[in-house]
Amino acid sequence: MKRIGVLTSGGDAPGMNAAIRAVVRTAIPKGIEVVGVLKGYQGLMSNKMHPLKLRSVCDIIQRGGTILYSARSKKFNSPEGVQKAVEVCHKNNLDGLIVIGGDGSFRGARDLTLAGIPCVAIPATIDNDIVSTEYAIGFDTAVNTVMEMVDRLRDTCESHARCFVVEVMGKDAGYIALEAGISCGAVSIIVPEFPFDMERDIVARMNNTLKTGKENFIIIVAEGVGKSQEIADFISKTTKIETRLTVLGHVQRGGIPTPTERVMASVMGHYAVELLAKGISNRVVAIKNGKPTDYDIVDALAMKKELDRYLLQVAKEISI
Ligand code: F6P
Repeated sequence: MKRIGVLTSGGDAPGMNAAIRAVVRTAIPKGIEVVGVLKGYQGLMSNKMHPLKLRSVCDIIQRGGTILYSARSKKFNSPEGVQKAVEVCHKNNLDGLIVIGGDGSFRGARDLTLAGIPCVAIPATIDNDIVSTEYAIGFDTAVNTVMEMVDRLRDTCESHARCFVVEVMGKDAGYIALEAGISCGAVSIIVPEFPFDMERDIVARMNNTLKTGKENFIIIVAEGVGKSQEIADFISKTTKIETRLTVLGHVQRGGIPTPTERVMASVMGHYAVELLAKGISNRVVAIKNGKPTDYDIVDALAMKKELDRYLLQVAKEISI
């Protein structure tokens, strides 16, 4: 390995910059040049890249977003797109590529490796729904952001004795909802992974709590449930408690990465370069029992990961 590329792809996530920094700072002392590919696979196909030196990654560990920009590319998901990207890699003498992104980005890394460009992928998505890893870059910061926002909502919620339905991100996943919901003492947490009943899992819980003297309620709903407004309307109608819906949206994708995020991203960036430097590719970096490890990309994509039922149970039992 003499020269590698690094790109960020899919939804951005706080901590991506810390991973880029770790890649550059691990590779260069090993005599490996690093090229930053701009705008993910889209930028790779259109040859948008520039060299990254040790000092190119100064003062980025604390910044959200990604200095390399990101994109979701439909064109890359075709044999022609992959072929184009391979040609660009050869033209730039790239011996390997580090891809930082979600499982869509992992599939791209797999296709590129099969087409002859050795890739290693690093998990990054605030949704934390990458099956092969306990932790994906962006998750901890997103949960912290949600917690802070909901704490603010709680103030006004309490003053007015209202109910706030808070929709949090998670396209098909309830990880943010679950951890933020417990952190904020939500009376109900609704996630796409498990079926729910509005009467039993929301209204009855609110009524039980009302009887003990509590008059303000936070309900956390993951975006992937797709029913936030319906839930808010149902609560208003059946409980007569004034209810507001707050959709937190993309605010969850930005902000200063937490210390945990910076550490995880640094470790995974370092680990990815170590793999490529040893000539190992077609791997995804993962966190298992808090430590970095790696899997074959195809195996990683086929793995299963369940939302933590125990955490959900804890939430149910103590938010009364
Ligand atoms: O990156 C994950 C995510 O933030 C999901 O939670 C959300 O559904 C989606 O991306 C939004 O994507 P976009 O930024 O393309 O609207």
